[in-house]
Parts: sequence; structure tokens; C-alpha cells
Amino acid sequence: MTTTRWHARELPTQGQHTLPGRYFTSPAILAEEQERLFTRQWLCVEREQRLARPGDYFLLEVAGESLIILRDQSGEVRALYNVCRHRGSRLCEEHQGQFSETIQCPYHAWTYALDGRLIGAPATNDLEGFRKQDWPLRSVAVATWEGFIFINLAEAPRPFAEEHAPLLGRFSRFNLPNLHQGRMIEYDIRANWKLVVQNYSECYHCPLVHPTLTKRTPPNLGENDLVEGPFLGGYMILADGSRSMTLSGRVCGLPVDPQLPAEDHDRVYYYSIMPNMLLSLHPDYVMFHLLWPVAVDRTRISCHWLFHPDTLKDPTFDIEDGTRFWDMTNREDWHVCELSQQGVQSRAYRPGPYSRRETISAAFDRQYLEAMGHQPDTIFPGSKSGDRGTGNGDRGTG
Ligand code: FES
Ligand SMILES: [Fe+2]
Repeated sequence: MTTTRWHARELPTQGQHTLPGRYFTSPAILAEEQERLFTRQWLCVEREQRLARPGDYFLLEVAGESLIILRDQSGEVRALYNVCRHRGSRLCEEHQGQFSETIQCPYHAWTYALDGRLIGAPATNDLEGFRKQDWPLRSVAVATWEGFIFINLAEAPRPFAEEHAPLLGRFSRFNLPNLHQGRMIEYDIRANWKLVVQNYSECYHCPLVHPTLTKRTPPNLGENDLVEGPFLGGYMILADGSRSMTLSGRVCGLPVDPQLPAEDHDRVYYYSIMPNMLLSLHPDYVMFHLLWPVAVDRTRISCHWLFHPDTLKDPTFDIEDGTRFWDMTNREDWHVCELSQQGVQSRAYRPGPYSRRETISAAFDRQYLEAMGHQPDTIFPGSKSGDRGTGNGDRGTG
């Protein structure tokens, strides 16, 4: 791929408008999203490293369910429903910790191995037809990719490797499995989760909202390379002596991989991975956001920064130069997302036209509607289906 100046300003805008207000205000739509997206699609939930040893676990709330994500005795990552097979009690209340070798229900002491097998059930010996092997904890599908844990609550999900085929191997040069988390910040924002993805997907807002970011990567330098479908994004080019997205403009760590190709030292890549992951790859660190809808107008977001392990041991690097840059930029974004939420709730709001510099936000909406099983032609009356443009356009950032 060549580094080309953004050249898509003359492309048609596809006549696409933003989503109607109900998509940001209706509890029924949120329930449908939980059903069609968050319980059927692969969701990134954490880094594998969070479960360093057998027995390590954390709880995850998703789509109204509580899951125990753990590493079992054989080293495998598993996701088990936090629901006892006896009378349904929550098994585990602590948000994270380490199991010895078993999980014991606090109610009547049914006991499970870490792979979910029921291994102890007091006073059930003489129960007619009762066999412990018939009562394991219910589990959900788990996949790991590039050091990330993904889960899927569907009964029989399409395999991760099939679903994510366009991404497999795509980021190998960034050494993702071997990077270590140096920082994580959680945010609780008053905006619908889709407003966050739509905001991440364009840099139309950058000049006004992000004066510092705009100095590092001018909004008109970059190109999208995933332009349709569940994975969307591209890169922006570091300019004016900026070596990374940091407050100082200098790198804040070693290259994520010593072999990182030269052109990647001048770029920052931004991808949204449907539905809940935003992945931002820098020469010296990787940032990812995970989004969890809490209410139609509320989203919990965790933002994580990963570094080469030697960076974290080297006191000459100030990783906060990068994490503070993005914490500031995140807050600038959350503010406009919250302003959007307030506006789209208004009786005065009507879908507005996407500009030529928001092709990825528009592509996200199309993908979202398709995943929801909603017909774009009825949502966007007057838009010509098939008039999608080439998808080139300047890139988005968080
Ligand atoms: S509900 Fe768990 S042992 Fe009874
Ligand atoms: Fe932004």
C-alpha cells in the first residue's frame, strides 16, 4: 500500500443520513441489540494475560448475564455462566480473583471443577437417574486472537476464525500477543455506544475537538483500507516531526516489534471491530477500547494501553506521555458524544446528512442495520442502495 494523500473529497456521500433518534433512545432497540449483536457476535472481553495462572478469573456482565471468565487447570481459557445447576444461585460474587481448584456454590455447596464439570453434590447419591456428568456449568464459546479473549453467547456460533478471516494475520507485525498492558482507564459516559463508534470512525471532528491530535496527524492525511463490513478503518499519517500520538510528539516506548516495517513508524491505524472493540495501533504502543452498553444513553468503556515488555522495564520511557495524550483525547470525544446524545433525544432531531469525510461512520451504520436485520432502505428513504462510493476517505480516530 502506498502512502497517498487523501483524495476522496469528490466521492458521492452515498446520500446516507445518520440513524433515526429511536436508535439512541429506545430501550426496545437496546434490548434488540443485546439479543442480535451482544449475544450472537464475538465480543472482545480482555487480554489473555489478565488470566496469568490456572484458577485466575474475572466476572463479566454482558447482555444481562454474569459470566465467569477463567483459566482452568489445563491452562485453557473458559467462559462459564455464573449460574448454579442446582437452583440457579450466583456462584461467585467477587469481581476477580483466583479459584483454588474448584468453584463451590455458596448456597448448598454443589462443587464444580474449573472446566465446569460438577464434581460434588451433597445428598444426591440415591437420587434416581441423577448423574453428575449431566449437570456441568453452562458455558459459552471462547476464542483467542493476538492475545485477546473473545466470547460468543450464541448456542452454535460461527467459528471465530471464519467470522474474523479478514483480520487473521493482518496485524502480525505489531507483535500483539507479546505486548503487556501498561495502563487501563475506565470511563462511564452518558451516550449511546453507537455514538462512540461513529465518533471513532471519522476525523471530520478533529480540527475543532482535538487541537493536539490534529498537530500529530492532520485530518487530511491517511487512507481507509477496510471500508465495508464488520471491520472498518484505516490509517493516518504522523506529520510535522511527530513520532507517535503523545503529548510531546516523541515516542513513549520501544517499537512494538523490532521488525516493524519502516512505513508503520509513520502511521497510526484505527479499526472498529464489530460490535464492541476499537483497536488503535501505534509504532510504540497499541491502544484498545472495549464498549459495553449499560443503557440507551450510557456506555461503560475501558481503554487499555499495551507496550513492548522492555518499554515497561525501561525508566527512560514515559508511557504516560502516550496514555495522557489519549486520556485527554478520549475525554474530548466523550464530551461531544454526550452532546450528541442530548441532541438526538430531542423532538427536533431528524437524521442529518453524512459528509464525504464520514464514509466509515456511514459504513458502520449500514453494517449495524444489517446485523440488526433492519432494512436500510426503510431507514434511509431516498438513499440509493449500491451507491456506496469507494470507501476511501480520511480516517477516524477516537
Ligand atoms: S443453588 Fe447452588 S448448590 Fe443449591
Ligand atoms: Fe475524536
